[in-house]
Amino acid sequence: SNLRDKLFEINKEAAGYFYVALRKGNDSSGMEYLSKRNLSEDTLKKFGLGFAPKNSKELYNYLKSKSYSDEDLSKSGLFNHSETNGFYNKFWNRVIFPIMNVNNKVIGFGGRVMGQGEPKYLNSPETEIFDKSRNLYGLNIARTSRKNYFILCEGYMDVISLHQAGVDNALASLGTAFTSGQAELIKRYKKDVLISYDNDNAGIKATIRAISILRNAGLSPKVINLAPYKDPDEFIKGLGLEEFENRIQNARNGFLFEIDQLKKEYNLEDPAEKTLFYNEIAKKLVGFSEELERNNYIEAVAREFMIEYESLRNLVNRLGLSY
Ligand code: GTP
Ligand code: MN
Ligand code: MN
Ligand code: MN
Ligand code: MN
Repeated sequence: SNLRDKLFEINKEAAGYFYVALRKGNDSSGMEYLSKRNLSEDTLKKFGLGFAPKNSKELYNYLKSKSYSDEDLSKSGLFNHSETNGFYNKFWNRVIFPIMNVNNKVIGFGGRVMGQGEPKYLNSPETEIFDKSRNLYGLNIARTSRKNYFILCEGYMDVISLHQAGVDNALASLGTAFTSGQAELIKRYKKDVLISYDNDNAGIKATIRAISILRNAGLSPKVINLAPYKDPDEFIKGLGLEEFENRIQNARNGFLFEIDQLKKEYNLEDPAEKTLFYNEIAKKLVGFSEELERNNYIEAVAREFMIEYESLRNLVNRLGLSY
């Protein structure tokens, strides 16, 4: 539609404005921040990174000079509006990450405070052209990788840092809850996906959710172990590409990862808790409706968690019958 085309244009102009402000503006704090995070000029260019200066009117005036209407500008998500101040920038004194769709068109922005501050990241609201549940940051680049799987991360910096280090198939769900729409996108381009969310409680919870959504979409996700680091960005800076590739090779099967997490909830020294744990595992195994697949998982779980194979199998079969 006409409005959509206008919004694509406005975003493109804004991305250009931020891009120039990072390099030619009189405030160099954005560039200093990005350099401190070890991003090369090539990387800044590849991802179109920019800077939103402290000036709260410049972008609006720039876009008005290009004759965009207030109505279209208000729908772009780039501005806040008040009676006294009119339109002023939503993104202010932040480094800017343009978010592209698969066709390399800018559909929104993320802005990070430089150093401490709340919120750490500010993102464009959903607009006529920005549906967060149907987009993945970095997909436009990662889809061109020759590898047959994606590395799914949480954040902008994870994706950018991995690409800079040579991992060309990284993308991110951007902190929002992973959706079935995003799983469908993944499936459209690659046959496998390795989850590399943050190695903290929030990240582990999000991983469990993503595993279930990806499995419902017919994929078999695996999970990358980032220990002792907290996220892929920190990992790749700390241990480098070769060790990250080792972690890819040794990625944990998603189902077994779920059982790893479940195990933490039980004291296996206690026979009653141990029994509960085995029952929970068996309930999950019943969920595999294909007999061959179910048997393979029963075998793997028995081996990995040192459960007697026949007992586990009988338990699963008994529970299966009672459903
Ligand atoms: P760095 O600290 O720059 O390395 O960021 P990070 O990606 O490690 O941040 P974190 O793990 O906290 O968050 C992962 C992703 O969630 C970010 O890249 C953002 O997309 C999103 N996110 C993080 N903090 C916020 C926030 O305060 N508000 C919103 N809306 N999104 C956030
Ligand atoms: Mn949505
Ligand atoms: Mn996180
Ligand atoms: Mn993180
Ligand atoms: Mn980080």
